Amino acid sequence: MKVPPVDLVKQNSRFWEEFKRVLAEVLSDGRFVLGPRLKGFEEEFARYIGVPHALGVGSGTDALVLSLRALGVGPGDEVITTPFTFYATVEAVMLVGAKPVFADIDPLTFNLNAEAVRDALSERTKVVLPVHLYGQAAEVENMRFDGIPLLEDAAQAVGAVRKGQKVGALGDAAAFSFYPTKNLSALGDGGMITTKSGEIAQRVERLRVHCQREKYIHDDVGYNSRLDDLQAAFLSLKLRLLDSWNERRRRIAETYTEALKDVVITPSVGEGNIHVFHQYTVRTDERDRLREHLIKNGIGVSVFYPLPLHLQKVLMERYGYRRGQFPEAERASEEVLSLPIYPEMEEWQIEYVIEKVREFFGR
Ligand SMILES: Cc1ncc(COP(=O)(O)O)c(C=O)c1O
Repeated sequence: MKVPPVDLVKQNSRFWEEFKRVLAEVLSDGRFVLGPRLKGFEEEFARYIGVPHALGVGSGTDALVLSLRALGVGPGDEVITTPFTFYATVEAVMLVGAKPVFADIDPLTFNLNAEAVRDALSERTKVVLPVHLYGQAAEVENMRFDGIPLLEDAAQAVGAVRKGQKVGALGDAAAFSFYPTKNLSALGDGGMITTKSGEIAQRVERLRVHCQREKYIHDDVGYNSRLDDLQAAFLSLKLRLLDSWNERRRRIAETYTEALKDVVITPSVGEGNIHVFHQYTVRTDERDRLREHLIKNGIGVSVFYPLPLHLQKVLMERYGYRRGQFPEAERASEEVLSLPIYPEMEEWQIEYVIEKVREFFGR
């Protein structure tokens, strides 16, 4: 493939010596779980986001599940979220026994439309769960309602900023993912919860160790979900480069937008947002043919996401969702295409993608 969708081998190979050094450190002290490297990384991450608490967990999905539990969400509750996100967002809501209630998206940013969120409120609404999709913050300040906590799904947006504050510091709690393709990635699964609340942090701290209050005394049903010390050590090394990587992503995005804005709808950046371009996603009504053309030419494009979540079989069957209810999400799922974007991209690869997109439109 001439331009893969990501290049993790290239990203990780620059850390080869440092990775070996921290591996040796972990092997020699034998502290693998809830050890000093996790604590260190949690402190660095909390400082980076601008919150007092960060807690490492097993994955982004677990970060959502444990946050929902810490916010007291359970059976009979409703959580308002977007139908245009990765399945894990609503899966987490269903895993804690609550019902995902959808609101439609803004067609320009692909993020939740705040007015639609207001329309979806009911007495059962327990949490509002916006997703910062593709690396751009949702307009969360307009989704704050009295007594209803806000949980950010920040899995795709580490480093993104809204009105001077980093995502992860905008709501009552936030969930991050360090899945290998993310802007800040582990060598495997990993996740983090950030919060300003000492109380939520303490609940998460217990939830991730089987709700253990003291050794072998358990208060409730919890989870075994921690970020490994070794992964935390790898992530500490990478965190130092995150801002420069995100800057490089923004520069690639600018180049794409300048070169493609006359042939496709290029991404809109909302006022007050610093986008971190986890994905560079264009819209066109010729999406499927363009996708085929680019794949044929060795370019790793993807569709995030081809089926909005209210049309997934499990949600249609459980909750009676049907086609036509969230028309912007449905239209987006037919028109979006994500082009390769990652800090390790070479100039010739960026130019090649541009050339092949323009070629498709005969320009
Ligand atoms: C928006 C969103 N939420 C949640 C997740 C789940 O994260 P993980 O794969 O680390 O469980 C992901 C990514 O995979 C995601 O993109």
